[in-house]
Amino acid sequence: MRELSRQVRGAGLRVGLVPTMGFLHEGHLELVRRAKADADVVVVSIFVNPAQFNDPGDFENYPRDISADEAMLEAEGVDMMFVPEAEQVYPPGSASRVIVSGLADTLCGPGRPGHFDGVATVVSALFNMVEPDFAVFGEKDYQQLQVIRRMAADLHFGVDVVSVATCREPDGVAMSTRNERLSAAERQQAPAIYRGLCLASDAWQGGEDSSQALVGLVASEIEAAEGMTAEYVSLVDGATLQPVPRATAGCVLAVAAALGPVRLIDNVVLQSTASAVTAADNEETPAHA
Ligand code: PAF
Repeated sequence: MRELSRQVRGAGLRVGLVPTMGFLHEGHLELVRRAKADADVVVVSIFVNPAQFNDPGDFENYPRDISADEAMLEAEGVDMMFVPEAEQVYPPGSASRVIVSGLADTLCGPGRPGHFDGVATVVSALFNMVEPDFAVFGEKDYQQLQVIRRMAADLHFGVDVVSVATCREPDGVAMSTRNERLSAAERQQAPAIYRGLCLASDAWQGGEDSSQALVGLVASEIEAAEGMTAEYVSLVDGATLQPVPRATAGCVLAVAAALGPVRLIDNVVLQSTASAVTAADNEETPAHA
């Protein structure tokens, strides 16, 4: 893979990488289209990374369909599909881990010990195997995106990290491979998360900046959805991912919730409003539901 990539880049062409775990959907294809817009050669990697699953059962049950993935990527005009074996990504005796402190310890971090170390490690390995000019990731996994940005900068990969807005179903549910595992009844409850996020975002646009109030709006929608339990709803600084007591433009409302066998995550970035507060206002105790 690296040999091919070096040939392409040696000819003065740009290589764009879209790392995935396969079982592709429209959200992945948006990442591919973003890569195609800026690359001469697009590489899509498919690797279900054991190191980022805390639950071995979750890893085993993760859906896989490499032939369907191949057909979708071919239809999108992707140049290369890179499907390494586990022993190629993690050579025998593999003992190194990439740990991004701080950013990996908040939001989903405590509930998924080791998950972001697994992500940072595999993305580092993929960057070294593919040596792309840039790589594309979705904003749905906002914390993952920040972890990867930090890792790429700290370790001087020379790979630009490009992000793409969350792709949603018509009812607002963020596209995710895990949605496939919801029953029909559970799927009907799933829009509550984005509904709550929109309510809070509208309230922010209307002048509400208290974290407690904004978080409360999202949490109430989630509590009202049958069978859904919030793991966290939090208003955080968009760069540090630390909770803030008052919203400012660029802050992120982030959610993780359990629905049946599935853990759903979503977020919105608060857009600027005329009533934005100053950083000095952010000195109270943050609310975190
Ligand atoms: O977002 C994903 O699909 C995975 O976490 C990634 C970035 C491909 C690493 O395994």
